[in-house]
Amino acid sequence: MKIAIKIGGSVLCPTESPDMDFVDALSGTLKGLSSEHRIIVVVGGGRLARKMIKDARESGEESTDKLHMLGIEAARKNASVLIKALGEDAYPGVPKNEDGVKNAAESGKIVVLGGFRPGQTTDAVALQSAEATGSDIVVIGTDVKGVYDRDPKKDKNAKFISVISSTELLDLVETELVEPGAKTVVDPVAVKVIEKTGIKSIVVDIRNMENLVNAVEGRDFEGTVIE
Ligand code: UTP
Repeated sequence: MKIAIKIGGSVLCPTESPDMDFVDALSGTLKGLSSEHRIIVVVGGGRLARKMIKDARESGEESTDKLHMLGIEAARKNASVLIKALGEDAYPGVPKNEDGVKNAAESGKIVVLGGFRPGQTTDAVALQSAEATGSDIVVIGTDVKGVYDRDPKKDKNAKFISVISSTELLDLVETELVEPGAKTVVDPVAVKVIEKTGIKSIVVDIRNMENLVNAVEGRDFEGTVIE
């Protein structure tokens, strides 16, 4: 199977530098999966992205595109860290657009990348990469169980949703513009690609690697299926 996996930056890079224990564990899981499947991994910018964007704003940067570019740069930096951990198993470069991902995927190695272009998040990059390479499934890995009707970190009464249509999910996120460094459960740009292509997409807690493998292998897993 061809699988695209988004690794939430908040998990991989919870402080201003990557959590190397997580990177090592993830790298082991990805190597295991890559013996059976073709893997594309999209890494988020995490705290590093937020810090770079905040610092630039505070020093007077007003260009939205430039602020987004800092997030893209942070995500690419995190991607390089994972590439290093994967060693020989990883494609050595960080693709910057759909054609780049397509070419890199032809190597048969694990392809790791960060951002593409201003105005979206790496969720969208995962879907755009999946579309470009004809992937069978996209796994959006985050730091909560899946999709909730409200942000579970802000509201303890938030209800977990195990199955949601792309149209319902779009309703849930559409009001939230993709501002530089913004946080939404799934980026609306990504949901629109799901709606257009019908690529099977799921949201899981990426900290639980066994759950990730179960989801990919078609076994029971905890998370949200986007239909
Ligand atoms: P992400 O928001 O994707 O990082 O990118 P993240 O840390 O993984 O987010 P979580 O943890 O999954 O929620 C960081 C910022 O980089 C810019 C956006 O401003 C985004 O908020 N970005 C990223 C782009 O403009 N284009 C891209 O293709 C990717």
